[in-house]
Amino acid sequence: MAFRIVLLPGDGIGPEVIHQAERVLNRVADVFGCEFVFTRQRIGGSALAAGLSPLPPDTLADVGGADAVLLGAVGDPAFDHRPAGSRPESGLLALRREMGVFANLRPVKVWAGLEDAGPLKPGVLTGTDLIVVRELLGGLYYGQPRGWDRETGTAINTLGYSRPEIARVARVAFDLARARRKRLVSVDKANVLETSQLWRAVVNDVARDYPDVQLSHEYVDACAMKLVVAPASFDVVLTENLFGDILSDEAGAVCGSLGLLPSASLGAGPGLFEPVHGSAPTMAGKGVANPCGAILSAAMLLRSGLHLPGEADAIDRAVAETFAAGVVTGDLAVPGVSTAAFGDAVIARIRRDPPTRP
Ligand code: IPM
Ligand code: MN
Repeated sequence: MAFRIVLLPGDGIGPEVIHQAERVLNRVADVFGCEFVFTRQRIGGSALAAGLSPLPPDTLADVGGADAVLLGAVGDPAFDHRPAGSRPESGLLALRREMGVFANLRPVKVWAGLEDAGPLKPGVLTGTDLIVVRELLGGLYYGQPRGWDRETGTAINTLGYSRPEIARVARVAFDLARARRKRLVSVDKANVLETSQLWRAVVNDVARDYPDVQLSHEYVDACAMKLVVAPASFDVVLTENLFGDILSDEAGAVCGSLGLLPSASLGAGPGLFEPVHGSAPTMAGKGVANPCGAILSAAMLLRSGLHLPGEADAIDRAVAETFAAGVVTGDLAVPGVSTAAFGDAVIARIRRDPPTRP
């Protein structure tokens, strides 16, 4: 059976890191005997530069027939002056909405061999293994009304959430916590915002179905502080769209580099998988970008998008062995290896589990 994977390399370092992820997936196909059929489409600045809209109809049509979508990055300073709706980023926001991917999973952990790579003392970082569950289709990113009125010199964005929007993503987080260390921190700003008060109430309601999961609530400012002071204290972190965007960058940096972080965006249909880092325009085209986020996103695609856990494990294990061997890109140690050399190192370590003896 052939799986159809749409590649959306996008902007900046996106094409370079997606190229490595595709090479890794091809190696997995060879080793495990599965078949992936790739198509490539434009999104964001790469679509705008070709005279298309940020989410061209051809891209959307192709995504509609896919088993999973792997995206690089979206964002290009050449289009920064444009109004929100015609910037590259609007293509990604429209894609998420069209795909209905409301739950964005961003796992963060300290890798063996990288304990010293980040800004924290290794002792503080030890044992860090958390996952941010970010609501992806609501809040300030999508709320109406929005706009910048240049005549009056005012601008507005709207933060709104409904009960069902909160409950469905909360269930994803509780289910994950149940399969992990059974601790869930829900992050809000309920001391100031009504949306956060609703968030807290709904999360408490959903919690009744998960008596085995230990739930706590944290204000976002305190959570941001705790992420640098005691990152190992977290298991599952559930939060709304903008808070999740900010906290996941912070969590990535804490563990060494944002370039390490993969993500999976899930809904009822096919999933969207993308590294958490952005397009990093100043690094683009130099062959120095860290492809780890994209490669680990490919592993998440195999695991939760195509239900191929053995194949996903093979990638995760190859990345772990690569780090353990001291192979890293320049964001983690100077001098680092190139984007392609890191891809080579992972590919060389992809193998089936050695058969276990009875
Ligand atoms: C992310 C990115 C996007 C977001 C941008 C590119 C629209 O920062 O996936 O974290 O804010 O969601
Ligand atoms: Mn972000």
